[in-house]
Amino acid sequence: MTVRLLAISGSLRSTSSNTALLRALAALAPPEVSIELFEGLGDLPFFDPGLDLDPLDYRAPEPVLKLRDRIKAAEGLIFCTPEYAFGIPGVLKNALDWVVSMGVIEGKPVVALAASPSNTGGDKAHQGLLWVLTALNAQILQEASFPLPRIRQRLNAAGEIVDPATDRVLRTALEALIDAVEARRESP
Ligand SMILES: Cc1cc2nc3c(=O)[nH]c(=O)nc-3n(C[C@H](O)[C@H](O)[C@H](O)COP(=O)(O)O)c2cc1C
Repeated sequence: MTVRLLAISGSLRSTSSNTALLRALAALAPPEVSIELFEGLGDLPFFDPGLDLDPLDYRAPEPVLKLRDRIKAAEGLIFCTPEYAFGIPGVLKNALDWVVSMGVIEGKPVVALAASPSNTGGDKAHQGLLWVLTALNAQILQEASFPLPRIRQRLNAAGEIVDPATDRVLRTALEALIDAVEARRESP
């Protein structure tokens, strides 16, 4: 049975290195693993609990329902986020705020990555993302979740991984996620 994973980039930029990294990761997946990229972060309205009065009644805005459905359908999640001003991008925090009430991430295996051209790799945004995912009761795969510094040396202009060490750590992270999904299937 296909392992269904959803990848979410914290960057809306058309030439985003975080999105490129997720696409490169998807290309590493074995045939029995499907990694889809969620591309609707920019369509979400600003989080307003007042628009989400009855989350179980499916009355939230349409783009929010789409996000929740895609997360619900996925067996595991991979995030890759940039850091803006030492924090998690507003669009990503906004998306995660919209999914709190439905508990769609609860217990789900998650890999959390951050990528930045800086030497820190966006470590503060990475920590911020881990805090949010902790609040959502995700099953964070700590060993498979890390910041990736100097991202421009790891990917070429076509968004392909050119650094063997990066290829290795991403493959290992992906394997850990697949293992966690399979373990969860056996004992949900
Ligand atoms: C307004 C702004 C603030 C930024 N702040 C940080 C920062 O605090 N730490 C960091 O490592 N990079 C920072 N950057 C650089 C981003 O990491 C870089 O633009 C990165 O490529 C964005 O990710 P993307 O390529 O996926 O869009 C900042 C960039 C912008 C435009």
